[in-house]
Amino acid sequence: MKQQVLKVNEVKQLTKNSDFSTVGVILRLSTRRDRNDNIFWDVTIGDQTGELDGKAWSTATWWNHQGGDSFMIDPDNCGFRVEGMTVGVLGKVADFRDQLQYSFTEIYIVDQNKYPPINFKRRSPLGQEFLETEFKKLIDEIKRDDIKSFLNNVFFKHGLWENFRIWPAAYSLHHAYTGGLLEHSISVALGARDLAKHYEAFKIPVDIDVVIAGALLHDIGKLESYNIDPSISIKAIGNVVEHIVLGYTMFMKFAELENLDKDLAMALGHIILSHHGRKEFGSPVLPEFPEAIIVSAADDVDFKLNFWKAQMAALVPPADVTEYLPMIERRFWRGLSAK
Ligand SMILES: [Fe+2]
Ligand SMILES: [Fe+2]
Repeated sequence: MKQQVLKVNEVKQLTKNSDFSTVGVILRLSTRRDRNDNIFWDVTIGDQTGELDGKAWSTATWWNHQGGDSFMIDPDNCGFRVEGMTVGVLGKVADFRDQLQYSFTEIYIVDQNKYPPINFKRRSPLGQEFLETEFKKLIDEIKRDDIKSFLNNVFFKHGLWENFRIWPAAYSLHHAYTGGLLEHSISVALGARDLAKHYEAFKIPVDIDVVIAGALLHDIGKLESYNIDPSISIKAIGNVVEHIVLGYTMFMKFAELENLDKDLAMALGHIILSHHGRKEFGSPVLPEFPEAIIVSAADDVDFKLNFWKAQMAALVPPADVTEYLPMIERRFWRGLSAK
């Protein structure tokens, strides 16, 4: 490729009629037909900087560039699944009904060993090793043996850890990347723990071990809500049953299996059920005791701050205020950090 290879977010800053070259993973691919019955493809490619929705029209060419030789392929009929593979893309920024449109003219399937797809997937900026250490430190901090061994067994004996360590916390909005669920759970646990210590000093009776355990468990239902391959998507059950009920059900199974004390199971189960803090946000009960109020508050702050961060990353300067965001009933402002 002759041109400079751009990151996905750099392509998004280009103006009309610019040519571009980028490398990323095909996150979504769907074959469609235009008015003249010609095939075209909706292609979303992504790298660590973001996602780019583009069109590969019927005139676009697809190449298999693996193993040295380069030959043309039909992505719908080439004997392997193109979705999820790393590709090099040549394209042009076009204009369609006053909106920029990214037209992919040549798509090369590159050597997947040289350019492993995992290297182009977004992941937690905190780093996997740091997160895994922090998670284990939080469990070690717990003083109550029953809670500590329950958590160790749930995560490390019953196999939750394998997915929990890499899972996203969402498919968009916040922590929608590898390690996002781990990052979010730790952040909520640390925030909630410090809040609990604060209120303990202000004479509110609060069990810090229950707060940490509730925070680490609060979103386990997300493990059943999403698919992550080739890209993060919500499963039918994630929409129809939702992570709060899925998480509560998973937790109660573990509580029974591990013979967890009934009152402790009720308290932790309540933290999972109530953590969204409002019935219209999917919580069937609202936080009814100090530990649940604290976890729910820490979850809310963590969600909003990370949603803010994601929105700011997508905001193109000089704009410093987002569009109205119905989901949280406000716009976000870049704030004083922009100065
Ligand atoms: Fe949640
Ligand atoms: Fe959460």
